[in-house]
Amino acid sequence: MKESVNKLTETSVNRIAACDTISDLNDIRVKILGKNGELTAILKGMKDIPPEKRPEAGKIVNEAREKLEQAITSRQKALEDAELERRLACEKIDISINTNTLPVGGLHPLTIVRNRIVDFFSSLGFIVADSPEIETDYYNFEALNIPKDHPAREMQDTFFITENILLRSQTSAGQIRMMEKVKPPLKMISPGRVFRADEVDATHSPVFHQVEGLVVDKGITMCDLKGMLDLFAKKFFGESTKTRFRPSYFPFTEPSVEVDASCSQCGGKGCRVCKGTGWIEILGAGMVNRNVLNNCGINPDEYTGFAFGAGLDRITNIIYGINDLRTFFENDVRFLKQFD
Ligand code: DAH
Repeated sequence: MKESVNKLTETSVNRIAACDTISDLNDIRVKILGKNGELTAILKGMKDIPPEKRPEAGKIVNEAREKLEQAITSRQKALEDAELERRLACEKIDISINTNTLPVGGLHPLTIVRNRIVDFFSSLGFIVADSPEIETDYYNFEALNIPKDHPAREMQDTFFITENILLRSQTSAGQIRMMEKVKPPLKMISPGRVFRADEVDATHSPVFHQVEGLVVDKGITMCDLKGMLDLFAKKFFGESTKTRFRPSYFPFTEPSVEVDASCSQCGGKGCRVCKGTGWIEILGAGMVNRNVLNNCGINPDEYTGFAFGAGLDRITNIIYGINDLRTFFENDVRFLKQFD
């Protein structure tokens, strides 16, 4: 038996050494040491050996097994090392490859301008508030001094989900939500999406964007509003920009104004952009109506405030000289790429 084990060990060691793939090596392992392997067969034959010779025979077989296992392990390591060497040699990573081949997106122009507006008002100490796009009739109209059947509802026809739930037609709804929660002094802006049942054309869209502003404190006057909007216009349309207030009407402000900025294109002389007037309307504003303060539990004899609502799309149009609102919503990369 000793002889046959030695012979098997010797030929096996040679076979192992001659192996040049891991899978061949595995096959050999199974052939020799597997369940039906050659050495295993010898081990199984132990039962025919007289008991007194078994320890000796067992020792021989075990030594052979150890030797073969070692030979397999070291051959395997050699093959793995060689494989690694081969891969390192041929799989070179070219670190000079241009990684800018994937197009990188940029911010949407509305986002760029919204961020600038947020930065500007934050720097003046305003907080930025979010407010729901799905509103109740109360917040969007009623509490803003626009009762049912008020003609001002006509201009803000929106999408009703039920009789009382609707897509907000103006960010002004956020004024009420803010004043219900935070007592004055308060300074906030609230940018967001608004909705109206309008047909799509160059200047109308059923979805557009506004930025609402609200300041409530003791002794706030229209001068505060004018000073702040002046600063705003200069910052966004150029240092030499002037503003003017035209009397207007909004149910939630009293008095109400529409605010124009001098046309930055022609410097106020009159051109195509300002339709020859020298002025461009930028937003609506006014002093918060006493009824609105009362609706929010704020005493109008103690506090006053101003509010304004600007069309973000409109301001973005002015800044970039865009004349078709639809471009904001069409997702045309040729348009969007210009703002990267
Ligand atoms: N909510 C008005 C609109 O959508 C805009 C507006 C005007 C907002 C005057 C105000 C304001 O806060 O004071 O037409």
